[in-house]
Amino acid sequence: KLPDIEPSLLEITRTQQPKRPPPPSSLVFGHTFTDHMLTVPWQILEGWGKPKIQPYGPLAVEPSATVFHYAHCLFEGLKAYRDTNGKVTLFRPDMNMKRMNTSAERIAMPTFNGEAMVELMKELVRMDKHWIPDQPGYSLYIRPTMIGTQPALGIAPPKEALLFVICSPVGPYYPQGFKPVALYGTTEYTRASPGGIGAYKLGANYAAGVAAQKAAAQKGYVQNLWLQGPEHHITEVGTMNAFVVFKRSDGSVELVTPPLDGIILPGVTRDSVLALAREHSAGKIRVPELTDKLVVSERPVTMKEVKEAAQKGDLVEFFGTGTAAVISPVDRIGYLGEDVHIPTGPDGMGPISRPLWKHLTGIQTGAIPHPWAVEV
Ligand code: COI
Repeated sequence: KLPDIEPSLLEITRTQQPKRPPPPSSLVFGHTFTDHMLTVPWQILEGWGKPKIQPYGPLAVEPSATVFHYAHCLFEGLKAYRDTNGKVTLFRPDMNMKRMNTSAERIAMPTFNGEAMVELMKELVRMDKHWIPDQPGYSLYIRPTMIGTQPALGIAPPKEALLFVICSPVGPYYPQGFKPVALYGTTEYTRASPGGIGAYKLGANYAAGVAAQKAAAQKGYVQNLWLQGPEHHITEVGTMNAFVVFKRSDGSVELVTPPLDGIILPGVTRDSVLALAREHSAGKIRVPELTDKLVVSERPVTMKEVKEAAQKGDLVEFFGTGTAAVISPVDRIGYLGEDVHIPTGPDGMGPISRPLWKHLTGIQTGAIPHPWAVEV
């Protein structure tokens, strides 16, 4: 068996030119990077090599490397938070490492020991933790990435790869904060197909989505809503998972998200929202201010159902979930030439997303103790 990633071999080279973190209010999502990065090389005959933490900077990769031609690229996104006592935690990093391995398998790239990678990321975050802005809503966005580096143009599993991790101090993902967003229901492009790559966090998925996002922006919408198939099933909101809330005739409220049927990205925030909502409705936990009449469903949902519910006054909420923005409320969907309007509260949120957001961000920031927050 070839060597896996081994944290005890970590070699650290500190930067000689530490930068001064910019004022948090000037941060644009993912534009500023910390002083250090982590790299781990892989070769087919040698397995995973020595992990290194070194100054953030350019990589030496040949122009013939497979990443530049056939998109051998996969990535993750997770956040580190610093609480008021200075304690730094990662949110559910094991989930990201599991998903990173499934993404790697999907494009015939090497897999690795996720727990070992979590240990290495903790060390990186410990070194650069002073970059985490000391303000509510701010965090350190951690971007683990794997690329195929073999200099060869043949289409085959890459024989060389590089896993690296960079970190970026971030504030609220949408510059307008919690202002709800307007979505354009995309029917001209599809994001994913059965047996395709939509359920994996591959760079190619995101490149293929940008034209749809650009078209939505040209029509005056903030993001696009990915609709699937002739029935226009709701799948994802831009790069986030989609949630819809309906009022039901028996007085209950249904929180719906499409099932993980192969065309949906298994989001960590999606999973966390579902888990909290389910535990609440089962009486195992109490999410303050959340209704007791909550029903949680992973089921297909179409644009027709959303539109009809909106017309009858039964549409309670529509929102996206993701690591970057956590929860992003939606107030309008442009669909086949008409706008479907969605109610939102004065703070932009709704009766289901607000308590769930408060509870989830309470866990993420350490205000509510929970095993999901892993101390670095
Ligand atoms: C998310 O966290 O919602 C994303 O998918 C982030 C994006 C920058 C790729």
